[in-house]
Amino acid sequence: MSAARAKSKAGRFIVVDGPDGVGKSTQVQLLVEQLDMRGVHTLSLREPGGTTAGEIIRSLLLEKRQEKLTAVAEAFLFQAARAQLVAEVIRPALARGTWVVCDRFTLSTLVYQGDAGHVSARAIQQLSELSTGGLKPDLYLVLWAATTVCVGRRAEREADRMESKGARFLRDVSGAYKRHAERGRGKYKLVDAAGPIEEVRARLWKHVERLLP
Ligand code: TYD
Repeated sequence: MSAARAKSKAGRFIVVDGPDGVGKSTQVQLLVEQLDMRGVHTLSLREPGGTTAGEIIRSLLLEKRQEKLTAVAEAFLFQAARAQLVAEVIRPALARGTWVVCDRFTLSTLVYQGDAGHVSARAIQQLSELSTGGLKPDLYLVLWAATTVCVGRRAEREADRMESKGARFLRDVSGAYKRHAERGRGKYKLVDAAGPIEEVRARLWKHVERLLP
């Protein structure tokens, strides 16, 4: 099969990333529904998780009893879950022509373990290259809203281990997302996540629509 033909058959890979409480899971669900309505078969995934090994790693990372993991250990674990997800689920789905929408990807590790956890950004980028085998999203959306908005939105659910790291950590995470998205405009699309769900959905859709055949 020619490279052009292989490309036209391949599914698209969309990532929705951003700080805790920004409303990612709601928007991912709406996006997948909207794609399905347009006749685009779409697989919805979240990181960490999505494979048997990935779900075990997820509970290791997010259960509160594992308080003492270092940021370096976290970086390896998130990347291990990612390697498994990319190889076992994402690549085969894209090859079948299925679109993939993933809640979080490489920028999460760069922000949480790198900027907020002080692990070297270069080391994290190298690990990301390894875990993804160089797979790059067709569209990398970064949802962003001020920390006060995010904290308010997640107020109803109990905080997991990552979310219990305190106000300073949350501020570092929030600032880092904004910085990366603003500086890496070729790579990331910064989407304003403040305001009603419907407005945010429409902002996201403007970007996704351009990928439709
Ligand atoms: P999750 O409950 O999925 O949160 P959310 O709905 O906000 O995505 O938990 C994922 C947590 O793991 C979240 O606090 C961010 C963190 N995380 C990292 O620290 N590094 C990573 O590489 C990834 C993928 C997630």
